[in-house]
Amino acid sequence: MSGSEWTCRLSSMHEWESPYYEPSLPVSEKSNPLTRDIDRASSGCIVRMLQACDSQMFLEEAGATYQRLMSDGVVETLMEVAKKVELILKDPRDSLVVLSGCGTSGRLAFLVTSAFNRALKELNQSPVYSYIIAGGDKALFSSQEAPEDDPKLGMLSLKEACEGKKRVLFIGISCGLSAPFVAGQLDLCLQNPQVYTPVLVGFNPTHQARDEPIPGCSFTFRSVVQRMEGLAKSQKAFLINPAVGPEAISGSSRMKGGSATKILLEVVLSAAHAAAFTHTPITQQGILQHMRAYEKTLEIPCAHNEGMSALLEAAGKSLQRGRRVCYLGWGSLGVLGLVDASECVPTFGADYEDVRGFISGGYNELKNNEGPLGPDFRISHEDFLHLVLPSLDDHDMVLLIYTQTDDVSDVEKLARRVREKTSNLHAVYHRVDGDTAATDDINKLCLSSLRITWPSPASGLLQMQWELCTKLFLNALSTGAHVLKGKIYQNHMMDLQVTNSKLYCRATRLLQKLSGCPESKCEEALLKAVYKVDNLTVEITSSDISTHTHTARTRTKVVPLALVCLLTGCSLAEAELRLEQQPIVRDAVEACLS
Ligand code: F6P
Repeated sequence: MSGSEWTCRLSSMHEWESPYYEPSLPVSEKSNPLTRDIDRASSGCIVRMLQACDSQMFLEEAGATYQRLMSDGVVETLMEVAKKVELILKDPRDSLVVLSGCGTSGRLAFLVTSAFNRALKELNQSPVYSYIIAGGDKALFSSQEAPEDDPKLGMLSLKEACEGKKRVLFIGISCGLSAPFVAGQLDLCLQNPQVYTPVLVGFNPTHQARDEPIPGCSFTFRSVVQRMEGLAKSQKAFLINPAVGPEAISGSSRMKGGSATKILLEVVLSAAHAAAFTHTPITQQGILQHMRAYEKTLEIPCAHNEGMSALLEAAGKSLQRGRRVCYLGWGSLGVLGLVDASECVPTFGADYEDVRGFISGGYNELKNNEGPLGPDFRISHEDFLHLVLPSLDDHDMVLLIYTQTDDVSDVEKLARRVREKTSNLHAVYHRVDGDTAATDDINKLCLSSLRITWPSPASGLLQMQWELCTKLFLNALSTGAHVLKGKIYQNHMMDLQVTNSKLYCRATRLLQKLSGCPESKCEEALLKAVYKVDNLTVEITSSDISTHTHTARTRTKVVPLALVCLLTGCSLAEAELRLEQQPIVRDAVEACLS
């Protein structure tokens, strides 16, 4: 890289921190200068852009506007929270650690509580962790965005989870410091300090917490945060909110937000477990060491750039042809596959069948609160064999996701079955140096294999690194494939679902940015697309946002339709026709703009 290219890259690494950069938006909603042209990039370039975005998670603090993952203040709070968890682990009677969030944040709460309850079980200890996800377990694998707006539901689900408990450490996760569901839970904690100690995890500075009124509540997310700030001084509440930079696709907090959530929660809980069970004191050094192991993990995908861009290309081709991408995973990496696949529906307006994940052992492996979720949520490899495999051919891509600790003979068996239908079979495989697992035959069955070799012996930390690496990898694969399919305009998801108040506001803002029209006009156009009318009635304009978002649940392409109307002044019917003729939203928008 030349000197000037480097300076340019460095300045876009930090540009988002300038007070003049998209000043009305919180960090989590800003657009990332690094990915401005991602919609026109080659697969190799997309991979590098996404990696550069991820690396912003670990930017140094020196001279920075916002605190970082490894800033002193953040590390101190992590130590304090770890000590609270340690106390519960040492005396778990009538106590609980609850992790809760909406969408990806709730999915990570599930993943992390599962892993640490498993660790407790291995030590013959009873579980102390519990997860809550807005919308219940079906939200683990589908988008349930309306419950995110419901603070009462949040409170009730927390009360129910903590029935009979005398001491609860509540960890609420909201990447944007924005979800009313979590605000309601934090408020409950603040009202009942004799039982609950609240911790908030998110990735905006506190003054950027969402301040919109929440219908039926006297608090906003920001006012809850301010109350917590007051209590933080006496360690009665904790705020963990480093900035990790804007998402590669604006607002897509499943990416860095999710990864940083996983890192923070695992650092805290690992430190607490080490303190409680191996007498390892909780120290700043220990926390930083764990963080650095994750920072190193980020280098792994970079070392496999070529393989990753080939996979991204293959997935993009399948999606462009209207075919499928299937993830077949084992253990917790299988869960990450399920999660990544299901997030494609709300994130990219993808069809449920476009990207699907399956896990070995299905619900038996998952051990979720509600058990099997019924015929709409089939997730086992057997389901894949019966329901999906028969219709596959070479245009469909299948990806095996496994590690040396999984049953490789099972992987091989499944690979053989897949090869009978498609040669478009690939693998991501984690192993440690010197691993002797017999995977050569699997590799021969695959068109490409990313074999990631790790230096240290398999351990709890290594499993978490495998997971983070797999998450980064799958997020890049599914995001990149949808970029190649033309779902992204610049670095914005155009075809977003407008199914809760946050997404409604995001959609209006996007229309403003792309059309240059005033907010009121953009909201009008959005409502016309939502209600499928060219003229708004008083009934529509006097309804509240929850009515609009409820109606929008069954609508498609509302934002692209509204934008075409705004840019051309045409009717909704004409806009629909234009989008039918030009189904690649990015191209349709560009055609209007030119
Ligand atoms: O509203 C949908 C969504 O943006 C999901 O994509 C995301 O995972 C969820 O909300 C939760 O967001 P946050 O963690 O900021 O509360």
